[in-house]
Amino acid sequence: MEELKKRILKDGHALSETVLKVDSFLNHQVDPELMYEMGTYFKNYFKNHGVTKIFTIESSGIAPTVMTAMQMNLPMVTLKKQGSKILKGDVYQTTVHSFTKSMDYELTLSKKYITEKDNILIIDDFLANGEAALGAARLVEEAGAKVAGIGIVIEKSFQPGRNILDDKGYDVYSLARVGKLGENLIEFLE
Ligand code: G4P
Repeated sequence: MEELKKRILKDGHALSETVLKVDSFLNHQVDPELMYEMGTYFKNYFKNHGVTKIFTIESSGIAPTVMTAMQMNLPMVTLKKQGSKILKGDVYQTTVHSFTKSMDYELTLSKKYITEKDNILIIDDFLANGEAALGAARLVEEAGAKVAGIGIVIEKSFQPGRNILDDKGYDVYSLARVGKLGENLIEFLE
């Protein structure tokens, strides 16, 4: 997505060789028009995948996902991050480890919002190690539903997530693929 790449070059900052800061339009302040354009790209890619519902993970995935769900005319569900396990039987939960933040959380989905007939598109803002996307896919599959695909706003292609998701056979579509980060350096893959 050319507009996104231009925006990353204009307003993004490589904080290190692994972390890209995009607080001014995605993670803190949000640019609604850019989010809408993202929704159009995701819709165009996934429109023939038989998607029944779109899942995201709180919180920065929500804005681009709402815009996608609106344009695909589909319901959307936000997976919650809980600090500890809920022992009631009305939720699906899985432990996700964040390497970036060095912490674990329980990704949580109410059983009310998925059936085994669902074909779920998962959308998230960043793909780093793939742990969040894999956790979301585990919840979908535990419910007996299918993963229609995974939409990512910014993929850091030099980290392992993309290859892991590809190897598991998921259809991954990223709007921007960052190949390298460094001091004053942000490089994209085609
Ligand atoms: P993974 O799911 O691919 O394994 O990623 P990881 O756990 O390492 O990422 C944890 C959090 O850090 C996620 O946000 C993710 O979006 C964010 N993150 C990872 N790499 C970058 C980066 O280079 N830049 C920025 N800005 N964020 C990054 P989160 O905890 O879910 O927070 P949020 O969705 O509430 O923003």
